[in-house]
Amino acid sequence: MLNIAVMVSGGGTNLQAVIDAIEAGRIHDARITRVISNKKDAYALERAGKAGIEAVAVSRADYGTRDEFDKALLRALDEAAPDLVVLAGFLVVLSPEIISRYRGHMINIHPSLIPSFCGEGYYGLKVHEEALKRGVKVTGATVHFVDEGCDTGPIIMQKAVEVEPGDTPETLQRRVMEQAEWKILPETIDRIARGLIKLES
Ligand code: GRF
Repeated sequence: MLNIAVMVSGGGTNLQAVIDAIEAGRIHDARITRVISNKKDAYALERAGKAGIEAVAVSRADYGTRDEFDKALLRALDEAAPDLVVLAGFLVVLSPEIISRYRGHMINIHPSLIPSFCGEGYYGLKVHEEALKRGVKVTGATVHFVDEGCDTGPIIMQKAVEVEPGDTPETLQRRVMEQAEWKILPETIDRIARGLIKLES
């Protein structure tokens, strides 16, 4: 059984895609044991609650220093004892200690075809605004292992999505979520759970 901790910051549609895939049997032999949010009001926490998954909020505002916050995030992860950590719309830069502790066992979903439109400041709608500004005809999503950089870890899976005439950042984001993110994140987790994608030992 693959024990998964999912880290979130917002609406949690990627978390929901994983929850639904486990329930539908499209992800085998895996369970989400904890959802961790850095935002107390993240709707992702509601989604976790509805699915009967333990959900905790670790808010920067509750800690005097950034180091204390980072240590609280690490504790929240370690308590869940996950085999796999999934960053699903998680917008906090993780400490080197967390990255090091979970290297090879932490994946992230990014809403572009890395190495395009990624790195510092490229998250949410901004990614799609830049893709439209550049005039690309194809964009998509990427699942990658997390390393010390920003969206720089080894790429695991990607899926391309057509940019359509008249697209706005919002319509493009929705299509990338529906046609790419919500498919390749569960597919990657299933392949990890079945041992087809190896985690570092
Ligand atoms: C979205 O921009 C998505 O593309 C990216 O993170 C943001 C929020 O996702 N992965 P979610 O709905 O919270 O999963």
